[in-house]
Amino acid sequence: VSSGSMQATASANANIALVKYWGKADESLIIPNASSLSLTVDGLSTTTQVTFHTDTSSRDLKSIHTSEECSDASATSPDTLIIDGERHQGKALHRVSSFLDRIRELSGIHAPASVISHNTVPYAAGLASSASAFAALAAAASRAAGLNLDDRYLSRLARCGSGSASRSIYAGLAVWQAGHDDATSYAEPIASLLESNGESVAAGRSAHDFGMQLAMIVILISDKKKAVSSRVAMRRSVETSPLYGSWIQSCTDDLQQAITAVSRGDVEMLGVVTERNSYGMHATMMTAQPPVLYWQPETVEALHAVEDVRASGLGAWSTMDAGPNVKVLTSAQDAVHVCEALRERMPQRDIHIHMAGEGVRILDQHL
Ligand code: PMV
Repeated sequence: VSSGSMQATASANANIALVKYWGKADESLIIPNASSLSLTVDGLSTTTQVTFHTDTSSRDLKSIHTSEECSDASATSPDTLIIDGERHQGKALHRVSSFLDRIRELSGIHAPASVISHNTVPYAAGLASSASAFAALAAAASRAAGLNLDDRYLSRLARCGSGSASRSIYAGLAVWQAGHDDATSYAEPIASLLESNGESVAAGRSAHDFGMQLAMIVILISDKKKAVSSRVAMRRSVETSPLYGSWIQSCTDDLQQAITAVSRGDVEMLGVVTERNSYGMHATMMTAQPPVLYWQPETVEALHAVEDVRASGLGAWSTMDAGPNVKVLTSAQDAVHVCEALRERMPQRDIHIHMAGEGVRILDQHL
């Protein structure tokens, strides 16, 4: 690193929501209509290196910014973005540059940046790549700019990049409190939530431990980039689905029940809530105008296989996000058996176990 640059690298895991975030109350700040609960999982991660080139004078940066008249960010962004070895411009770069602008404003470092990112998650395939991506970017960019932010602040920042990223700051189970503005909309570990609800530290610790003993099995149906982004799909549910209002109401009950399940250490109760919440979210998409149907024929096959595995006596509950892939909540203890039972029923599919994972961390080694 030359004396004219500031650099940091961070890694974050994806998270899979058990009680979903679907729909924004504020589109620009990304304030959700309801609180959500997720499990951070290992093996689906993003590592990101951010370098601010402070030897490029702020005058250069300002002249780039003031010439920004058209919406094509590639022509005007001062930053560069490489994801999995491929240089990105246009929308992806614009999103990253706007995010970096927040960091520049906070730190007073008005320098262009280069961002290099490696995923073990297929990019934009409904496998929560934006969650790990923006959590890693928030941590790396803030550290590179010399800021030392606490987790709550990092969660708020990550949220501005992608809502679900607010939860990837933490290990295991995290709750994103919807809040009503930038300062009040952030995620926190389940243990902190229980403690602030008046439960003991020991109860919080056991809720954390319970979360770390959960696992997600991913049944890969497709790793292609989705045709409709989650941003567009959720807006369509909010604006046109007659089921949207009742779904948001059910999220409040589901979150309450999920938290009760966690404090009791009841995987089955948590699984039942998880599965019905996911179906409810997809119902708001199917009833939108025009409908959003992420499901493929193989998706339905996988959903039936999960039911079948459960009928055989194993604890397994499905959940799906903005894509055709099916995820299966289970306990770490049952994970291998559930995985084998699913592979038996779908021998042609890629099926992998992801254990509960760590939160975001700064790495000593750069990319
Ligand atoms: O953070 P986004 O904009 O990618 O939204 C993702 C929303 C879901 O993954 C479908 C649900 C969730 O809570 O993660």
